[in-house]
Amino acid sequence: MIFREDLLKDKVVLVTGGGSGLGRAMAETFGKLGAKLAIVGRRQAILDETADAFRQAGIPVLTHALDIRDAEAVDRAMDAVFNHYGRLDVLVNNAAGNFVSPTERLSPRAVDAIMNIVLHGTFYCTLAAGKRWIARGDRATVLNITTTYAWTGSGYVVPSAAAKAGVLAMTRSLAVEWARHHIRQVAIAPGPFPTEGAWSRLMPTDELASEAVNRVPMKRVGTPEELTTLAAYLISDAADYINGEVITIDGGEWLNGAGMFNSMERITPEQWDMLRAMMPKKS
Ligand code: HXC
Repeated sequence: MIFREDLLKDKVVLVTGGGSGLGRAMAETFGKLGAKLAIVGRRQAILDETADAFRQAGIPVLTHALDIRDAEAVDRAMDAVFNHYGRLDVLVNNAAGNFVSPTERLSPRAVDAIMNIVLHGTFYCTLAAGKRWIARGDRATVLNITTTYAWTGSGYVVPSAAAKAGVLAMTRSLAVEWARHHIRQVAIAPGPFPTEGAWSRLMPTDELASEAVNRVPMKRVGTPEELTTLAAYLISDAADYINGEVITIDGGEWLNGAGMFNSMERITPEQWDMLRAMMPKKS
């Protein structure tokens, strides 16, 4: 851990989807840095298992089963957190849903499943926390987990792309609107970070998974520690002047897809020599 272990001392942090995957990894890091945690997710058994592990490590944690698509349930969960800890300092909108599919194969319910989780669910959580913070005059931070294809778009994950673009717009909009309430908005756009939940839905074959790694200029996926370290910094007081910014952590993956000539990566040094020889000389 590169931080002092009291970086997040006594901050109350709510992580949606905090029972598994990267949500759990972030929550654990925050806890090790002194935060008091609330984790919410759809499955109580997963939350319990994670909470037991956290408590054994001496990390205080509240669990609350919640499907963030249900706005009233979000409100009840928020009440539970404020009642238990007396306040909330940081909301981490991590819960998401996604799968790969040709867009024309999607049913309206499939579109709703993703967009209701990613866009509406994130909005409901932010709204429920924000209303309370503003009424109480509390300073606070929202960290949204978005993705690089929020700005490039991406085929085969179009409901997710549309929803994450909405989350990015929300981050930037509220950064301005809620700054006068001292409510900061930050976002992380991760590239490929393998977790069971994401990989099984997005990289269903080994071939697709290795193609995904190959597209990253650094030729590797990210580690949970790299993501959780960035998240801890962004929610800490050290990042107090960062507002409305999205930090990409993807080994350069999206830029590789964007640059017109990047596919020339596959050309060998010998082939470059040949290409140079073929080019017109100065006339
Ligand atoms: C086409 C599909 C489908 C698929 C589900 N549907 N999977 N359509 N291809 N692979 C359709 C169903 O047929 C149904 O429509 C509708 O979607 C709702 O499906 P349900 O299973 O009833 O919904 P629900 O139980 O709410 O499940 C939500 C879910 C599921 C999103 C579909 O996958 C889930 O619970 N995921 C949560 C975890 C997750 O997705 N983690 C990965 C996040 S990764 P019909 O019309 O048939 O009823 C991520 C990273 C992004 O976000 C960035 C990467 C770099």
